[in-house]
Amino acid sequence: MMFESAPLSPHLGVRISNLDVTKPLSDETFAALRKAWLDANGVLVLSNQTLTPPQQIAFSRRFGPMKHRDTHRAFEGVEHPEVVVVSNKVVDGKRLGRISGVFWHSDSSYDVAPVSATLLYGLEVPPAGGDTMFANQYLAYDTLSPRMKTMLCELKSVNDYYNPATYKNRQQVERPSVHPPVTHPIVRRHPETSRDALYITRGFTSHIVGLPADEATAILEFLFTHSTQPEFIYRHHWQRGDLVVWDNRCLQHYAVNDYDGIYTRCMHRTSVQGDVPVGPGEMSRASQAVAA
Ligand code: SIN
Repeated sequence: MMFESAPLSPHLGVRISNLDVTKPLSDETFAALRKAWLDANGVLVLSNQTLTPPQQIAFSRRFGPMKHRDTHRAFEGVEHPEVVVVSNKVVDGKRLGRISGVFWHSDSSYDVAPVSATLLYGLEVPPAGGDTMFANQYLAYDTLSPRMKTMLCELKSVNDYYNPATYKNRQQVERPSVHPPVTHPIVRRHPETSRDALYITRGFTSHIVGLPADEATAILEFLFTHSTQPEFIYRHHWQRGDLVVWDNRCLQHYAVNDYDGIYTRCMHRTSVQGDVPVGPGEMSRASQAVAA
């Protein structure tokens, strides 16, 4: 047997044990792991790992080309530009990293070509709290009515790093030139599974292209609540040495900050560069154009 696997919840997540990702993994073993990840709707938990940053980078590269951390990020942390330190630790009076994602979001959905996979390694985890919640966006789409699906498949939303809903406490005197808003389909077809998933988040989706603000806000509020309902969620309670790989193309996640000021938490995050999101409508128009 290559590794052992067990479901983490009825709709989301698989735990893999007996696999040391620092050892050479054959293409066959990695293909089985990737299939387990896609079949579990995008959350893979690899337990009991001991990873240096280069080892985490090497394993992350199996999922695709790495995304380097943004040059504007305030905390450099470790030497490797592929690794972001996510932490509330203070060493010699300086913050080691930063706490991120304390709202529902999909990583870098404010980019034209957002991150596909994120890998988060738990170096130091709180004895209680500091969980990460994941919401299954295939299920969020599948459970909508046929008419709502038809309407959403034609719509695009604007996704913005400086979305006022998320950054309402920030006084934006002048918007920096990095991260201009981008548009993405509200329903995204997954390039590997060909399944459709909702692709909006309270964290970064600001409005809907072509709709007046009041209509867009009502639709988005419904979708934000619908897409993160408890039945769609797997909540990961971290153990030291967990490496969690998640798929931003079919998931939202939320880093629960109930530990800051009580416990320390330190994680290393790597990210895999993804494709430009494509909706089901665009796919069928593209295939009609090829056929014509
Ligand atoms: C993130 O949102 O990328 C960080 C998740 C976490 O710290 O649990």
